[in-house]
Amino acid sequence: MTAQTIPVDPFELIVFGGTGDLAYRKLLPALFQRDRAGQIVGPSRILAVSRRDMTDEAFKAATREAIERFVAPEDRTEEEVARFLGRVAYAPVDGTGEAGWADLKARLNGDSDLVRAFYLAVNPDLFGPICRNIGKAGLIHGNTRAVIEKPIGKDFDTAQVVNGAVGAVFDEHQIFRIDHYLGKETVQNLMALRFANALFEPLWNAAHIDHVQITVAESIGVEGRGGYYDTAGALRDMVQNHILQLLCLVAMEPPMSMDADAVRDEKLKVLKALEPIDGSNVDRMTVRGQYGAGASAGGAVPSYAEEIGSEGSSTETFVAVKAEIANWRWSGVPFYLRTGKRLAERVSEIVVAFRPIPHSIFEGGAGGIVANRLVIRLQPDEGVKLWLMIKDPGPGGMRLRHVPLDMSFAQAFGGRNPDAYERLLMDVIRGNPTLFMRRDEVDAAWHWVDPILAAWRAAGDRPKAYTAGTWGPSASVALIERDGRTWHEEA
Ligand code: BG6
Repeated sequence: MTAQTIPVDPFELIVFGGTGDLAYRKLLPALFQRDRAGQIVGPSRILAVSRRDMTDEAFKAATREAIERFVAPEDRTEEEVARFLGRVAYAPVDGTGEAGWADLKARLNGDSDLVRAFYLAVNPDLFGPICRNIGKAGLIHGNTRAVIEKPIGKDFDTAQVVNGAVGAVFDEHQIFRIDHYLGKETVQNLMALRFANALFEPLWNAAHIDHVQITVAESIGVEGRGGYYDTAGALRDMVQNHILQLLCLVAMEPPMSMDADAVRDEKLKVLKALEPIDGSNVDRMTVRGQYGAGASAGGAVPSYAEEIGSEGSSTETFVAVKAEIANWRWSGVPFYLRTGKRLAERVSEIVVAFRPIPHSIFEGGAGGIVANRLVIRLQPDEGVKLWLMIKDPGPGGMRLRHVPLDMSFAQAFGGRNPDAYERLLMDVIRGNPTLFMRRDEVDAAWHWVDPILAAWRAAGDRPKAYTAGTWGPSASVALIERDGRTWHEEA
């Protein structure tokens, strides 16, 4: 089965922070793949900018190195790499100062039919100053967009400052706030599953669903990002954005269409319906953890404090939250959320646990009847499993077994699983913001997160310790077991 590739309009993508980690690791490899697939056409090009002095040739060499490092050999040929390098160039620009802007302007194509997208792969403190300079240099025309990455603020107030500074230069419809989880294949499949099948939607409510679990577990530590991570922590780094976005896609009402605002209006309603967690219930509803030394991927690993070189840090590297949505569809259905670094394995999944059958006609000998579960696996092996009860084959009487109807996307469709950035970057060029966060979504997410952070601060407790390579502190198990449920595990 081959995916149909529809070319996007010719564009110029200007990447601030163009020689940084995100550019080399994600953006350039993603653009390479889209070029290779024939989706990037005509005079389209990518202009990396940063303060550093660098020639086009040196940048092309660095881009080649990045592609050779981050793109599997079977997914590239020398000819394809050479063609892509023809599309990349470099310009030294001081994003927050004066230098380089006139040269940048001179190098851009003046044709306003060409899409012009600025990607700000820089520290969020620089979003405002860079946008101001883009405006001052007269670089914005009707076909211009700005792409920004999280973290958008560290709470509601600071998010206002960031969004205000970008919004002072670009209109909301020109701003693309990336949450790369929304570009993951399986996340979009969640929408297909819910809204392109008649089967699930009638059951998708409190009458038939017992609870939902969303787990985003990582086996890596903070990977040299300690400076940022220690000021953020797991709640801000993963829950405020990625996990709440997943929760929205599970919980939202069917939007009228896939139109960007139709989808985002429905997600916003979910965020606004989240029951507040504050000083009155934070102990019952949340668990914070921090990893100590342990073992991961077969080797010994240091504690978080050792990794970042700060013994006193009380930043959480794990969080579990019991979230509740106060509306007709979900009243009484808890959404258990958990995420952490240095956990037992890398796995991200959404588990929709249905209610048990009301009455069993099978005798005790038939074995326990386990309730149905729908497991949507985001990574590592993308797919959907529907756990059902079936009869054990053979003539030996009626024995029941809990087995999955298993659709592995790799087996079903084969081929390479495109990275989230491939889709999102093409959506930026197409001007389709459906998979990007609108400003009011970011605000609503902070509205829910801020009181949790405030309650933790007021309590002043240290996060609970857990050993690296485990599933987090035992309090996380207790959080769900108190309600007579367990975290989903597959043998
Ligand atoms: C980022 C977080 O947004 O997502 C990182 O800042 C995290 O801390 C990463 O490691 C996880 O993304 P993925 O796609 O590897 O699950």
